[in-house]
Amino acid sequence: MISGLITLERSGEAGLVVQLTGQLRRLIASGRIGKDRVLPSSRRLASDLGVSRNTVSFAFEQLAAEGYLAMSHGRRPVVMVDGGERTEGAGTAVSRVQPGKPRLSPWASKLRETDWPMSYLASLRPLRPGHADAREFPNEIWARCLRRSAVQSARREIGAVNRPRLREALAQYLATSRGVRAAAAQVMILPSAQAALTLIAATLITPGDEVWVEDPGYPGATAAFRASGARVVGMGLDEQGMQRVAGTVAPRLIFMTPSHQHPTGRLMSLVRRTEFLAASRPGKTWIIEDDYDGEFHYDSRPVPSLQGLDAHGRVFYVGTFSKVMTSDIRLGYLVAPPALCDTLEIAQRHMGLIAASHIQEALAEFIIDGHFLAHLRRMRRLYHARRDHLVGEMERRLGGVLEVETPSGGIQLVARLKRGGADRAAVKRLVEAGVETRALSTLSLGRPRDHGLLLGFAAWRESEISTAVRTMASCF
Ligand SMILES: Cc1ncc(COP(=O)(O)O)c(C=O)c1O
Repeated sequence: MISGLITLERSGEAGLVVQLTGQLRRLIASGRIGKDRVLPSSRRLASDLGVSRNTVSFAFEQLAAEGYLAMSHGRRPVVMVDGGERTEGAGTAVSRVQPGKPRLSPWASKLRETDWPMSYLASLRPLRPGHADAREFPNEIWARCLRRSAVQSARREIGAVNRPRLREALAQYLATSRGVRAAAAQVMILPSAQAALTLIAATLITPGDEVWVEDPGYPGATAAFRASGARVVGMGLDEQGMQRVAGTVAPRLIFMTPSHQHPTGRLMSLVRRTEFLAASRPGKTWIIEDDYDGEFHYDSRPVPSLQGLDAHGRVFYVGTFSKVMTSDIRLGYLVAPPALCDTLEIAQRHMGLIAASHIQEALAEFIIDGHFLAHLRRMRRLYHARRDHLVGEMERRLGGVLEVETPSGGIQLVARLKRGGADRAAVKRLVEAGVETRALSTLSLGRPRDHGLLLGFAAWRESEISTAVRTMASCF
């Protein structure tokens, strides 16, 4: 008897109709009251349960509206649902079927295959590459800029996703410091450089398009292009940077880090830059210049950007504030080729890759008032000394096993295993000892071209670097 399966609490918080509806729904959804079962009439069930007929009628009507029951005039209600198959309905029905693996889009499946950052540990340890020293950031000054920007927010014009003052300030800074030639309207403000790569990939790549990347290179770029369906081809490196295979036709997109190749730190020669530009037919081949840490150069004057050499609007210039400020500031930018600005801004809005206005305004002030350049100059001196310290310590204590490639700039360096062999095993040993590095072989596309370690020097004080290198020496 169905009434035997139902217990109603008269003093309960939920009313009788809610209780009865919920219990009947669960009984049907779990299969205890099966499909095609004819329920008692409302009069009969009301009498069995000792409630009013209206209470039962309301419950039946609700379940009929949700599709659990079929009702027709003068007939008893019939159960319409095969218990265990129905999972929706006011969120209370429970499925007996174990959910299988969710079917993902090709985009998400490809991203899962190249999920590179997950290999990092949650807490930052010496000598993790790619990090600036957050302890050196002028937080008090930044807080003042943020406060002023927040206070003024009510008076600001809303609407522009890329704030004009920041666009202008960045265009000027990039022109003088990096030789980037762009109108403020070409500058897009994004939550990260990675967002810029995803945006470009979504805008330009048709599945099957060929994309050239450096090998070893930056896995975040490879992941973004592969997820969009690109056929990613790795190009080897020589002393002048990324190589081009003679006689090959340039692809849809070329990704490069010419200021400091990621990971080796090599500078792409002017000859090589010109060759890549010459091979890229306007409107057919686009180049992404990722200048992720181009602000840091130690041994010579910085080489102007590739974007500034391009007279045909083929180059996307990508930058980030993660390295020059702190990694959690979550701001990057893209200087777009003029022909693609409108399309990219539409895509930017649709993907929601928009940085908070008050943070954009605060950053504009930070730059215009000179704090950005002052911080940069100070960090350049500090990181230069740290680079030299790490190189010196490694040569002294690990010269027999590791060959350090001293980069002319940037915030990380590569050390190759002199005796060859497995860099992943070395990284594992080092992590266990408290030193975090990255295996060079994990940055290759196919069969690793090189074995070695990628180490960061910017985020660590000299004493911390010395301790870490001593630990490393005990692991080899
Ligand atoms: C070569 C390169 N490009 C881009 C980025 C991403 O910068 P963001 O943190 O702004 O996404 C990184 C970060 O490590 C990088 O190494």
